[in-house]
Amino acid sequence: MNVLLTGGAGYIGSHIAVELLESGYDVVIADNFSNSDKGVITAIEKITGKRIDLFEIDVADKVKLNEVFEQTKPEAVIHLAGFKAVGESVSKPLMYYRNNIDCTLSLLEIMEAHNVNKLVFSSSATVYGIGERLPYTEEMLLGEASNPYGATKQMIERIIMDTVSCGWLSAVILRYFNPVGAHQSALIGEKPQGIPNNLMPYIMQVANGSLPELRVYGNDYPTRDGTGVRDYIHVMDLAKGHVDALKYFQDNDGVEVFNLGTGVGYSVLEIVAAFEKANGVKIPYSIVGRRDGDLAEVYADVKKAKNLLGWNAKLTIEDMCKDSYAFALIEKT
Ligand code: UD1
Repeated sequence: MNVLLTGGAGYIGSHIAVELLESGYDVVIADNFSNSDKGVITAIEKITGKRIDLFEIDVADKVKLNEVFEQTKPEAVIHLAGFKAVGESVSKPLMYYRNNIDCTLSLLEIMEAHNVNKLVFSSSATVYGIGERLPYTEEMLLGEASNPYGATKQMIERIIMDTVSCGWLSAVILRYFNPVGAHQSALIGEKPQGIPNNLMPYIMQVANGSLPELRVYGNDYPTRDGTGVRDYIHVMDLAKGHVDALKYFQDNDGVEVFNLGTGVGYSVLEIVAAFEKANGVKIPYSIVGRRDGDLAEVYADVKKAKNLLGWNAKLTIEDMCKDSYAFALIEKT
C-alpha cells in the first residue's frame, strides 16, 4: 500500500515514515523543506534500507500535488504539512491561516479528484482550548483556541468532518499531546530552527552545551511542584499510532478522533530530574515568570485509542530522555 505523507520530512513525519516502511508500506513524501532538510530523507533510507519517493513541492500547489497523485497513486494520505510554532502564529496569523488551510483544501480536492478516500490528520491537544476538565477526552466540546496555530487545527478538523459527512472520505484525526524523543538510531530527531520554544528541545541544547541553562516558566501553578505538567509521548509510539490508524480503515469508515498521549503528566522539574538521571548529566535551570498562554496541567484520556485502535504508548520517560540526548549529542558533532 502506497501512503503519501505531506510534510513527511519533518520531526513527526520522518518517524512515521520509518515506522511505515518497517511495517511494509511504501512511502511517498511531499514536502517543501520549509522546516526540515533533505538529509532527513537519506537518514530514513539508511535506517530502513528502503527507498522513499520524494517530491519537493508546496502541498498547497494543486498542479504539482496532482502530479504526485498521478505518478504515485497513493491509497491513503497522512497529512502533516503545516506551520506549527505557536508564538510565530500570533505575530503572523495570516501566514498560518493561509498556509495551513490552503494545504488542507488543496489536498482534499486532489484526493477527491483521484478517489483517494483515506486520510489521517495530524492534530494537536491544543484544540481543547482553555479551561477544560482533566483528563481531556475526545468528545469534549472544543473551547476557543488560544492562538492562530490552534485555531487552524480546529478549523482543519471541522473541514475534514464536513467533508466526511458528504460521503466520499474516511478520516482519523489524531490529537498529539507532547511528542519528544528520537529514533533509537539517533539519525533523525527534532531539529528546531533557532532557539527552541519547547521544553525537551531546550533541555537537549542545555545538555549538549549549546545553551547555558533552562528557564523554567513559573513555579506557582497549582501542580505537585508548582511547575507546568504535560503528557509527553515518545515520537516512536506516536508514529506507531499512525500505522494503527491506517489499519483502522480496513473495518471502519466515517471519522474518528483519538488522543495520542500516555495519559500521565510530568512536571517541568520532573522532566529535568528524569533527564539528569537517564543521562548522567546536570541541567542547570532558573525559575522565571510564567509564559503567556501556558496552562497549568494537560494530559490525555487515552482509553479510546486503546479500545478502538488497540494502540497504547509503551516507551517510558527514561526512553524519551535517553533517545533525546543521544540525538542532541549527534547533532552537536
Ligand atoms: C506547546 C504548544 C502547543 C504544541 C506543543 C507541541 C505553546 C503555548 N503550546 O505546548 O501548541 O502543540 O508545544 O509539543 O507553546 N517550559 C519551560 N521552559 C522552556 C520551555 C517550556 O519551563 O524553555 C515549560 C512550559 O511552561 C510548559 C512545559 O515546559 O509547562 C512544556 O512546554 P512546551 O514543550 O513548550 O509544550 P506546551 O506548552 O505543552
